[in-house]
Amino acid sequence: MDVMLELETRRRAAREGGGQRRIEAQHGKGKLTARERVEVLLDEGSFEEFDMFVAHRCTDFGMEADRPAGDGVVTGWGTINGRMVYVFSQDFTVFGGSLSETHAKKICKIMDMAIQNGAPVIGINDSGGARIQEGVASLAGYAEVFQRNIMASGVVPQISLIMGPCAGGAVYSPAMTDFIFMVKDSSYMFVTGPDVVKTVTNEVVSAEELGGASTHTKKSSVADGAYENDIEMLAEARRLFDFLPLNNREKAPVRPFFDDPARLEASLDTLIPDNPNQPYDMKELIHKVADEGDFFEIQRDYAANIITGFVRLEGQTVGVVANQPMVLAGCLDIDASRKAARFVRFCDAFEIPILTLVDVPGFLPGVAQELGGVIKHGAKLLFAYGEATVPKVTVITRKAYGGAYDVMASKHLRGDFNYAWPTAEIAVMGAKGAVEILYRSELGDKDKIAARVKDYETRFANPFVAAEKGFIDEVIHPQSTRKRVARAFASLRGKKLSNPWKKHDNIPL
Ligand code: HXC
Repeated sequence: MDVMLELETRRRAAREGGGQRRIEAQHGKGKLTARERVEVLLDEGSFEEFDMFVAHRCTDFGMEADRPAGDGVVTGWGTINGRMVYVFSQDFTVFGGSLSETHAKKICKIMDMAIQNGAPVIGINDSGGARIQEGVASLAGYAEVFQRNIMASGVVPQISLIMGPCAGGAVYSPAMTDFIFMVKDSSYMFVTGPDVVKTVTNEVVSAEELGGASTHTKKSSVADGAYENDIEMLAEARRLFDFLPLNNREKAPVRPFFDDPARLEASLDTLIPDNPNQPYDMKELIHKVADEGDFFEIQRDYAANIITGFVRLEGQTVGVVANQPMVLAGCLDIDASRKAARFVRFCDAFEIPILTLVDVPGFLPGVAQELGGVIKHGAKLLFAYGEATVPKVTVITRKAYGGAYDVMASKHLRGDFNYAWPTAEIAVMGAKGAVEILYRSELGDKDKIAARVKDYETRFANPFVAAEKGFIDEVIHPQSTRKRVARAFASLRGKKLSNPWKKHDNIPL
């Protein structure tokens, strides 16, 4: 009986983490504790803990007198809506969640198991960084985690939830995972903090400005989503998880659906404005195509001229990439290309089919774009689409001009189904630009130029030239887009396509 009692006593002590005072301090900042987060993230009662009694082995700075069970991180596995996931959750109440040699070992243990057993890893980060008392042993621990992040990449989905400080080299573990979420006002990520920045460059900046959720979702694109508080983020992490397969050898889960795949949407017939220069909201099309209008957007606040995220069609996950005419007229630029390329590669790595909705007037012109390397960054998206072997269905709603036509999952990049609406304009460029080049000598004569523009529009500003060549498989009614796209993906469920053997490609980075 005594041993049972001892187990319970030890468990209780481990669950206490850094003690009541520090738990209250954590709550005082609006943050849940490491264990509370795991409880909210996972299905009720599903969490199985590992290494609850692991303690550090440091003997410097009097550390041998303070060896809390668990060593500042809670690890284990559980389920989200019945599907398995490995989790680690750093406990800020124990040495500030700092990473020691043993703390790292605990994380590595569950990562190794995740890779072996084919289940995703969700890491909850809330840490003061390297355990200062342990020195290089802590740095070694980080590197062991990094190496596993790299090995797991493309094998199991990895999601990082930043729910407190994440600074210094510690940021590079989340940076190598597939998705990063941040909590507004209580989380930050930076390589060097405001004090170091001030010393080195004399710039004065707050932690929030340098590395808060807003900065990383709007400016740096380091993070994929920002949420109001711990609870909202954990709920959204569950929602994202439901779209993803457990590993790269399994398909994404199929959800029961209550939305007719053949549903027609008459309103889509008038989505495109009469004036070709007037924008419209591409998200309307996404919502109307998706099962139950459900769309999980990735990087909503960054490069909004391209939209990326997940929907389901007939219950199956589909990645969506869509130009957004409401922002920069839907042009591709450096940021949009990088954002979409990474998303396409995630989908391809995990066998998620891709739906591409196209309304793109071309690449954004400008000195800043050229000097910023739009050639190399634009090539990322081209490369990502071209190497992807998953089912690819493309719908051109309006403009598909120039190189951007090729890039956006065209037939020539192994698009499986390339549809166009009757409003599509597939051409090297817009009519006005084309006429100004072809008929430069007539530019003084307004009427003549207007006639030339009209003529060019009639000849080329339509989907039929491309359809005659077989580059467009079918011109479809906008209202039947959901039905056509769902049938297309259904027909592609047995698709098998592979690329030539190589060690790995050399995508322009
Ligand atoms: C050991 C640490 C710690 C650390 C915090 N603590 N960070 N213990 N190693 N890195 C402890 C504190 O001593 C304190 O213990 C408790 O955690 C809470 O810390 P506070 O400072 O009271 O909390 P707060 O005011 O909220 O500030 C949080 C903080 C700050 C901003 C994270 O603690 C801080 O600046 N810590 C140091 C950060 C740092 O420089 N880390 C090393 C970076 S280098 P008590 O007992 O009082 O509760 C790095 C390299 C990684 O990480 C390299 C990877 C390759």
